[in-house]
Amino acid sequence: MKLRFGLIGCGRISKNHIAAAVANRDIMELAAVCDPVTERAEKKAEDCLVATGKRPAVFADYHKMLKEAEVDCCSVATESGYHAHIALDCIRSGKHTLVEKPMALSTKDAEEMISEAKAKGITLGVCHQNRFNAPVQQLHMALENGRFGKLISGSARILWNRTMPYYQQAPWRGTWAQDGGTLMNQCIHGIDLLQWSLGGEPDTVMAMTGNYLRDIEAEDFGAILIRFKNGAVGTVEGTACIYPKNLEETLSVSGATGTAVIGGLAVNHVETWDFASPAPQDTEVAKLAGTDPKDVYGSGHNALYRNFITAVNTHTEPLVSGTEGIKGLKIVLAAYKSQKTGLPAKYDGLEFSTTEMTQNDVKVK
Ligand SMILES: NC(=O)c1ccc[n+]([C@@H]2O[C@H](COP(=O)([O-])OP(=O)(O)OC[C@H]3O[C@@H](n4cnc5c(N)ncnc54)[C@H](O)[C@@H]3O)[C@@H](O)[C@H]2O)c1
Repeated sequence: MKLRFGLIGCGRISKNHIAAAVANRDIMELAAVCDPVTERAEKKAEDCLVATGKRPAVFADYHKMLKEAEVDCCSVATESGYHAHIALDCIRSGKHTLVEKPMALSTKDAEEMISEAKAKGITLGVCHQNRFNAPVQQLHMALENGRFGKLISGSARILWNRTMPYYQQAPWRGTWAQDGGTLMNQCIHGIDLLQWSLGGEPDTVMAMTGNYLRDIEAEDFGAILIRFKNGAVGTVEGTACIYPKNLEETLSVSGATGTAVIGGLAVNHVETWDFASPAPQDTEVAKLAGTDPKDVYGSGHNALYRNFITAVNTHTEPLVSGTEGIKGLKIVLAAYKSQKTGLPAKYDGLEFSTTEMTQNDVKVK
């Protein structure tokens, strides 16, 4: 039976959710769309009708949608600051919940989402769709097969440009209450890939961030050093200030017997693939076209939805579960704490929220 989804939030990223619903229409149906700006929800309902022949019901209030629409799953794609509250309402209504990144803006909220989902037997997923990029999947397979040997270091470079019209278009962006800065908004995908590639168990985080160019509360640049429990060190260079336009998002991983670099506009190009011993997957990697996606969001939502639906149907964890999604969030929050205190921040036991940051914490004199 097809799983029925309700989409909450019909803004800029919702087109990827609609595209995923269309691509996965053999296993899901978008049954409802919701946005208080109803013309946005109407537009998405129309897009869905044209693509699938079925028009989702339109709601202005998600509480009403949760009560009236017969949905099994909810996708939350509102402003980041509302994710936790809305996701918790969905979970408590018994809906499997897929939430856009970042899953929340505080450790406390994210942990509550995970524990509430567990208590209710609900599947919780987070939209880190770049994990499904073909080269990233290959890199992960190489890691699982031990091809890198001892892991030494890795980096995530997110060299993008976000101009003031981008922030003015949706004034929640760049605020501490609703978003955070470029590390939380744009770079969290790259940070998630980095932690996933270097063992998944961060230990200590040090950061220097700053607001250089954009007239927003939060940082528009951040550099992070992460020591992992296995000894590997990850570095992040993340910026919204690259002149004059998006340049690259690149993930690199280096071990004793392997190096891989995946770059392009949004981690889709294999740039380096060099291992001490050949393996059958090398032929597959050589075949990857490696074209840049049309926009930096890529098309990973399609595979992410499919994986989430399989997880719901088989009572297993999705690839990007809540427990996985919290890791990138905690690294960014630890980086914020480090910037605020001038000290390294421990990952385990971290308690922090974007709302503990102020404009002064990132102001570059
Ligand atoms: N995965 C990705 O690559 C990716 C890319 C872009 C944005 N995002 C994330 O997606 C989220 C949305 O970003 P955006 O750029 O689409 O924002 P946006 O401002 O364009 O859209 C947010 C929408 O949510 C609606 N909304 C607010 N409160 C609501 C409520 N109670 N019920 C229903 N709808 C409500 C707003 O009216 C608006 O239409 C953010 O958390 C962002 O970080 C993820």
